[in-house]
Amino acid sequence: MTALAWTGLRGTEGSALGGVSYVFAKLRRSVSASLYGGVLPQDLRPDQRRALWPAAADLGPEHVGNCRVYPNRSQPLELIARGAACAEVGIFRCDFSAEILAREPSELHLIDIDPQWLAVAQERFPAEIASGQVVLRQGDSSTILRSLPPASLDWIYIDGDHTYEGCKADLEAARLCLKPAGLIALNDYTFWGPSDFCKYGVMEAVNEFCVTHQFEFVYFALQGRGYHDVGIRKIG
Ligand SMILES: C[S@@+](CC[C@H](N)C(=O)[O-])C[C@H]1O[C@@H](n2cnc3c(N)ncnc32)[C@H](O)[C@@H]1O
Repeated sequence: MTALAWTGLRGTEGSALGGVSYVFAKLRRSVSASLYGGVLPQDLRPDQRRALWPAAADLGPEHVGNCRVYPNRSQPLELIARGAACAEVGIFRCDFSAEILAREPSELHLIDIDPQWLAVAQERFPAEIASGQVVLRQGDSSTILRSLPPASLDWIYIDGDHTYEGCKADLEAARLCLKPAGLIALNDYTFWGPSDFCKYGVMEAVNEFCVTHQFEFVYFALQGRGYHDVGIRKIG
């Protein structure tokens, strides 16, 4: 999957980044062209694409038997108990952070590699930061998650680096700071991004994680372009 690291250059579904998206799209195309010997993935034959991108690991009934389907990603936030300890990996403009805060967590760690989004958080949540309810953490998400106390969080939302490698690193780090009955939610549980037209590795990383560590799907939340959310927890 290393050759697919270019997928990290994704845009943001539903955002109006305009020129930035355009530059990213151009960059993606030139990087992918160089990776595939001048051939874009969309120009490969289906069998070549299947060989390039193996399917995500199969899940069994034990992984999906208790899964509930939600119509959108906001509704499962009802699973966050008041006073829960939470983290969001990848905050962008903090719109979803505000939805999480409305659940009244006791603490919310907002993690992003890009300082401009922490500055947005500073502007949007000054009182919560002053009170210690919101903690801003700038840097690579898996490194930051590994620095948090073991088994300290009830709910972790992963929406940062959507490559297989990035998502896997976040999942492995989240497992360590998650309480035993805690829940990990992930955005963009998809194999391919139809808006940004690039490979996503979240589906592969999540399925592999569930099989390896015996986690099950608690929910599947629909998104209109296939950028679905999932919530997973340890079986038992
Ligand atoms: C899709 S946006 C997050 C959107 C936000 N969760 C929401 O729902 O509105 C992805 C964010 O992840 C951040 N990001 C990407 N790679 C990261 C990494 N390795 N560590 C921390 N943040 C990262 C980006 O800077 C960006 O703000």
